[in-house]
Amino acid sequence: MMKSISELLVDRYGVEVDFGSEIESSDILRKILGRGSQRHFTDKPVTVSMLKTLLGCAQSAPTKSDLQQYSVIIVTEKSRLVKLGKLNSGLTWPTNATVFMVWCADMRRNQKLAKLRGYKHQNNNLDTFMNGVVDAALAMQSFICAAEGVGLGCCPISQIRNDLSSVTKILSIPSGVFPIAGLALGWPKYQKPRVSMRLPQDVVAHWDKYSDEHLTSLVNAYDKRRHEREPIAPEKQRHVDIYGVNDFCSWSENVTRQLSLPERPGFSDFLRKHGYELD
Ligand SMILES: Cc1cc2nc3c(=O)[nH]c(=O)nc-3n(C[C@H](O)[C@H](O)[C@H](O)COP(=O)(O)O)c2cc1C
Repeated sequence: MMKSISELLVDRYGVEVDFGSEIESSDILRKILGRGSQRHFTDKPVTVSMLKTLLGCAQSAPTKSDLQQYSVIIVTEKSRLVKLGKLNSGLTWPTNATVFMVWCADMRRNQKLAKLRGYKHQNNNLDTFMNGVVDAALAMQSFICAAEGVGLGCCPISQIRNDLSSVTKILSIPSGVFPIAGLALGWPKYQKPRVSMRLPQDVVAHWDKYSDEHLTSLVNAYDKRRHEREPIAPEKQRHVDIYGVNDFCSWSENVTRQLSLPERPGFSDFLRKHGYELD
């Protein structure tokens, strides 16, 4: 029996909600609400034609001022995948996926075009950095939606940013272009994705004005619900060497543990050496 939209919302939030019944059936909503990242794939290939169709969906995403400041690298050569997999940054399983691609913010293309058309490019700044990242993220998400819509599974991969100097060399990524995320893709081994419980909508959606007045009580309740449905296993608890293993390691415990140590502190240095002024 296919789940209703209301039932899928209950799965997503782990609690009854008073909305959802106005849409009885929608395949696209059902796919979006029931989705989850997939990290295990069958041997079935993804055809080039299918990939190109999905890339067309990616390119249909909105893009800031139609500037289209992103690129994607579809890594097919075994030698490059092996080199990426050998980096000490946990890329082995994604580069062994049926398809591995790297989504990039791209300031370079329009800089080259400015030169070609005889204009100065005077936007090597933080705004262009941000616009490229947003464009790339939206295109990647459109790709994910389309891929999941036809039954493929995906997982974005931020580990690609752990060693950007090596990655940019392996993939010949020039100055002005940098990876925002990798994406592992394939036909899922396990048909039903795990639905990861999200924060209550009242924590994330603010009507008319921002308010986090009830944050603590709402997150405490969410932590409890989430732990009851799917406790965080010891091996998934962050920085146990410093903080130890907890029986009740809540979502907010794990998130704040993760954020208690700096992640990728060399990123802005890398970007500045890689053509970005960020001012
Ligand atoms: C930008 C981005 C980077 C991510 N990087 C990784 C990664 O490096 N490795 C991984 O296993 N999952 C990665 N993920 C997947 C998230 O862990 C996943 O989306 C999150 O846990 C929620 O689970 P769900 O997608 O199944 O709902 C990434 C997701 C995003 C959006």
